[in-house]
Amino acid sequence: MGARAPCRAPGEQALDIGSGTGSETQALAAAVAPTGAATGLEPHPGLRAVAEQRAAEAGSPARFLDGDALALPLPDAGLDVVWCERVLQHLADPARAVAEIARVLRPGGRVALLDTDWATFVLHPAAPEIRPRWRPSPRPPPPPRTPDAAWRAGWPKRA
Ligand SMILES: C[S@@+](CC[C@H](N)C(=O)[O-])C[C@H]1O[C@@H](n2cnc3c(N)ncnc32)[C@H](O)[C@@H]1O
Repeated sequence: MGARAPCRAPGEQALDIGSGTGSETQALAAAVAPTGAATGLEPHPGLRAVAEQRAAEAGSPARFLDGDALALPLPDAGLDVVWCERVLQHLADPARAVAEIARVLRPGGRVALLDTDWATFVLHPAAPEIRPRWRPSPRPPPPPRTPDAAWRAGWPKRA
């Protein structure tokens, strides 16, 4: 999927959950400009501050909000697009976050859930200062949690 694929038109309302330093929120804001809005939800105050500073420096209209993916501080059915990248893997209850996403999306809204498949992780290129210190974990990597979270939240399974 191409980046920002869920944003189809100016005027849409977009949310980037776990927005980190806000690079994707900026991209979403550009995709829905000039009449739409993109908000990055980020609970870490330091990351949020960096995101706000970077957006200001870039002249981006992206805005940022404190909050938790498990209890989104947003009304029902108010969003056209939700982007959630590399966040579900960190949550104690990813299915609850997926249910929250379904709650805040309007009927027909779109969502992008992107996460890491650690079973296919490779270190490349082999940066000389990192490679000697890197050791594969002796434990098998955890299975990807994103599809499981979506199914447990009641989303339909499709082949
Ligand atoms: C690996 S970073 C991904 C950042 C960004 N989405 C990206 O892809 O560059 C994970 C992010 O999830 C955020 N996060 C962790 N727990 C969260 C929660 N309960 N609700 C929302 N965001 C959370 C972290 O603060 C961090 O910014």
